[in-house]
Amino acid sequence: MIKIEGVSKYYKGMDRPAVSKLDLEIKEGEICVFVGPSGCGKTTTMKMINRIIEPTNGIISIDGKNILEFDADELRLGIGYVIQKVGLFPHYTVFENIAVVPKLKGWKEDKVMSRVRELLDVVDLDPDENMYKYPNQLSGGQKQRVGVARAMAANPSVMLMDEPFGAVDPITRNQLQNEFLALQKKVKMTICFVTHDIDEAIKMGDKIAIMNNGKLVQYDTPENILFSPINEFVEEFVGSDRALKVLNLLRVSSIMEAYMPTIRYGSDSSQINEFYNNSNFAIVLNDDNKLQGYIDINRIVEKKNVEKWCDYIRTYDICLGIDSTLKDAMVAMLENDMKTIPVLDDEKKYIGVVNFDMIKSHVGREYETTIE
Ligand SMILES: Nc1ncnc2c1ncn2[C@@H]1O[C@H](COP(=O)(O)OP(=O)(O)OP(=O)(O)O)[C@@H](O)[C@H]1O
Ligand SMILES: [Mg+2]
Repeated sequence: MIKIEGVSKYYKGMDRPAVSKLDLEIKEGEICVFVGPSGCGKTTTMKMINRIIEPTNGIISIDGKNILEFDADELRLGIGYVIQKVGLFPHYTVFENIAVVPKLKGWKEDKVMSRVRELLDVVDLDPDENMYKYPNQLSGGQKQRVGVARAMAANPSVMLMDEPFGAVDPITRNQLQNEFLALQKKVKMTICFVTHDIDEAIKMGDKIAIMNNGKLVQYDTPENILFSPINEFVEEFVGSDRALKVLNLLRVSSIMEAYMPTIRYGSDSSQINEFYNNSNFAIVLNDDNKLQGYIDINRIVEKKNVEKWCDYIRTYDICLGIDSTLKDAMVAMLENDMKTIPVLDDEKKYIGVVNFDMIKSHVGREYETTIE
């Protein structure tokens, strides 16, 4: 846990503090995203946590211990730091860049080597292909992956990430975000994550700290930042397209329903007749509950070919996972011109459906509770 109490930082020559009376607590295993306009004090806050900069006033503690009680070098080696603008050492290879902290910690050579290889795998870079390249031989996205690997090298429990995915195109950024979230699910580090981008903050944060002019304006969950902005500054920062951002925040699992008729592949036609009065479609599953396709009940009844209904199954590979967002669901609906999309669990078993009306009424409900 990281606790920041009454922390201020005055730089010489500034007429206001760069960070002013900051109070906040980051729970163990959570991602706190600092977001706000350029110059609002995000990087200064990060650098005070690993003592690159000393606060003018206030106390910062990690797991209950004031950071001033740690040896400064040891503290820094124990905290992963992804520097703004990546900051790889240009004359070091990828291997040497990632190995810096483990070497400073005195790890044996073979342990360093296996850790570097392991981390390159984690950030999805082929070790053999990339280990001995120099930063200028890498793409922007690859550099950012190396930056993340370097920060994680010595298994830190605390990570400071200053715009770690800032300098890449939106598609690569989205990929890096998803990979990092999947990784964080497994390793559960305590993370301070800085970004300019409110969409990134909403996606990555368990909590979001919105700063302006060195002050903390709102510290809250992404939901509350979206639905209950504390003032006009936050409201404007979040933007007028809040409804779209909500779609990006909510998961399919929170609105999914399991009401759609389903039918087993190969079962007899009486089941079809049972559905006939209620629904035009049935989703066809195999014995393992895996999706086989769907069947248009009207069509086979019309053709009086009910016995052979399995011949009329239309394959159906459009589906969502339980972690998909409502935005993913909307995109799938629009791209495929379908109003209902099945949802599968991690083992690809059918668990329910999402349709357009569910999304509409759910988002509407969230807004109503805000207005009350
Ligand atoms: N070493 C320094 N000496 C004097 N002023 C500084 C120093 N470092 C930062 N500042 C000032 O402190 C304020 C906060 O800077 P900081 O780098 O923390 O902002 P930031 O939120 O990270 O901005 P950005 O989004 O542009 O990275 C700015 O006004 C900046 O000009
Ligand atoms: Mg900064």
